[in-house]
Amino acid sequence: MSEEKELSFTEVIEKASASITRFPLIRVRGVPLMCYIANNFDSVWEFSPDPSDILIATYPKAGTTWTQEIVDLLRHNGDAEACKQAPTPVRSPFLEISSPPPIPSGLDLLNKTDPPRIIKTHLPFQMVPLGFWEKKCKTIYVARNPKDNLVSYYYFDQMNMTQPEPGPWEGYIHKFMGGELSWGSWYDHVKGYWLEREKHNILYLFYEDMKENPRREVERIMRYLDLDLSDEVLSRIVELTSFKNMKENPMANYSCVPAPVFDLSVSAFMRKGEVGDWTNHFTPEQTKMFDDDYEKQMRDVDIPFRSLI
Ligand code: PPS
Repeated sequence: MSEEKELSFTEVIEKASASITRFPLIRVRGVPLMCYIANNFDSVWEFSPDPSDILIATYPKAGTTWTQEIVDLLRHNGDAEACKQAPTPVRSPFLEISSPPPIPSGLDLLNKTDPPRIIKTHLPFQMVPLGFWEKKCKTIYVARNPKDNLVSYYYFDQMNMTQPEPGPWEGYIHKFMGGELSWGSWYDHVKGYWLEREKHNILYLFYEDMKENPRREVERIMRYLDLDLSDEVLSRIVELTSFKNMKENPMANYSCVPAPVFDLSVSAFMRKGEVGDWTNHFTPEQTKMFDDDYEKQMRDVDIPFRSLI
C-alpha cells in the first residue's frame, strides 16, 4: 500500500493554482466578503471555540501577523525554534478563510489543531461567532491609523491575486471610505470592537503604540495573557518580532503563499512596516477630503488614533 505524503501549505496552494482568480465580493449581513468566505459563512458562525483559545482580531493590514508572532512567542516562552515549526497561517489559523480546494479552510486547520489555539479573524465584531464571548476567550484587537491602513491594503490588493482589483489610487481611497473593500468599513470595524472592549475584556492595541515602544506593548500583551516571562525572554521576543527579523523569517513573512496567490514581484507582504507612509501617497487635497470625511464618520466615538509618531 502506498503511503501518500501530506502536502505542505505551499504545495496545496500550488495545486489549486488553476482555480485562483480575483474573487468577487458577496455581502453577508451587509459586509462584503470574498465569495468563498461568504458562501462558507454559516459554518464559521457555528464555530465553537475552546475557552483557552485566543482571538486576534483586526481590520486587514493593521498588524495581525506581527501580533500573531508576538502571542505565539509569548506562549512558547520566547522559543524561536518552536515558533518556526510551521508558517503563520498554519500555526495560527485564519477563522473565516475559505479558498478553492485543496487549500484547507480556516475551520479545517482549526479542527486539526488542539486548543489552546491562536485564531486570526478580520470579521467585524458583530460577525464573530458568539462562542468567543460566551466562553470569555481572550481577544486582542489591533487597530492602525486609517491612512496607513489604507495604503497597506492598497499594495496588498495589488499583490494578492484573490482580492478584487484595487483600481487606481484615487478611486481606492473612495472605496475605503465607502466601506466597499473586503471585510467592509474600517470605520465600523474599529468602532465595533472599541465599543465592546470593556464588556468583553478585549485588549485594544494600536499599531502606532507597538511601533513606538514594542517592549511596552509586548509586556502589555503578556500581562493580558496572564503570563510572567523574564526580562531576558521579553527582550528576545521584541527582537524576534522586529520588522527586519520577521521579514527574514520564512515562517512569518508569508513566503509560504506562492504565486499565483501572492505576486511578490508587485509588492512584498512585509512591505515597509512604518507609521506615516501615507504621507508619500496622499496629496494635500486627498488628505483634506479624507480628514473631513473621517470627522463625520468618527464623530460618535473618540478613539485615539495617531497617524504620525
Ligand atoms: S493581513 O494580511 O491582514 O494579515 O496583514 P497584517 O499582518 O495585518 O498587516 C501587514 C502590515 O503589517 C506590517 N508588519 C509589521 N510592521 C511592523 N513590525 C512588524 N514586525 C510587522 N510585521 C508586519 C506589514 O509590513 C504590513 O504593513 P505595510 O505598511 O504594508 O508594510
